[in-house]
Amino acid sequence: ASTLGAQAAQSGRYFGTAVAAGRLGDGTYTGILDREFNSVTPENEMKWDTTEPSRGSFNFGPGDQIVNRATSHGQRMRGHTLVWHSQLPGWVGSIRDANTLRGVMNNHITTLMNHYKGRIHSWDVVNEAFADGSSGQLRSSVFRDVLGNGFLEQAFRTARTADPAAKLCYNDYNIEDWNAAKTQGVYRMVRDFKARGVPIDCVGLQAHFGAGGPPGSFQTTLSSFAALGVDVQITELDIAQASPTAYANTVRACMNVTRCTGITVWGIRDSDSWRSGENPLLFDRNGNKKSAYNAALTTL
Ligand code: XIL
Repeated sequence: ASTLGAQAAQSGRYFGTAVAAGRLGDGTYTGILDREFNSVTPENEMKWDTTEPSRGSFNFGPGDQIVNRATSHGQRMRGHTLVWHSQLPGWVGSIRDANTLRGVMNNHITTLMNHYKGRIHSWDVVNEAFADGSSGQLRSSVFRDVLGNGFLEQAFRTARTADPAAKLCYNDYNIEDWNAAKTQGVYRMVRDFKARGVPIDCVGLQAHFGAGGPPGSFQTTLSSFAALGVDVQITELDIAQASPTAYANTVRACMNVTRCTGITVWGIRDSDSWRSGENPLLFDRNGNKKSAYNAALTTL
């Protein structure tokens, strides 16, 4: 096939991109979006600061704009993200009472998942909960500090009840190298959830890579998570300088793992990227395909 989405679909996978609602009026942007991609992740529009800026007051406008457009163009949706320490409004961060925070977290998860029920194939239920450089420690956040490590399990159980049909993912960065302590910590959490029947269906590996691309152990990491009985997804791929080899190595690792069900790049053109200074994406500022695009397409 001649596009990323159609080629990925030949092996039952998706190829997606992050989309920003503020760019949907740009015809070059939407032209590439609709031609190449069959899955969409809202770059910011489903985060807590946008969706529940004050307690109990929900704003679905920007998220709905992206979801409605994707649905009408035959694109599937990832949901990103329900529980995260960042882009979190101050009113959540200042809660000190555990029962209050548990109720607030559960209500946020339930309200978003109910609103988008049936329209999201996979939800990043918890994003970036583990600390860098250690194998079992969660990072400090209001969720960990007030609720304890059990907030993770609580979030996934609440999510399963809210939308039993959605795949529930744990999503993080710096878990691509099998030899990294953080990877081992997430691996042990997933193994523990599986052993105890805590609902989890997928691990999202963000894959924000430096110029060298994925670590040599990347495929081992994907297959090791998959062997626990979860899908793996590459959820936020971008690579400094976008070397074709680095992109091909990333795509090949996914193709070699049956349970690697899809790849999402974190933006369309270099000018759309949160790392725009590093030119990390598949399309240049004019919307032309870069050599990394061809490397990705021919490896799918
Ligand atoms: C980034 C967005 O791309 C930026 O627009 C925003 O200012 C900050 O967040 N990990 C994640 C994503 O899970 O949500 C982040 O997205 C990038 C890192």
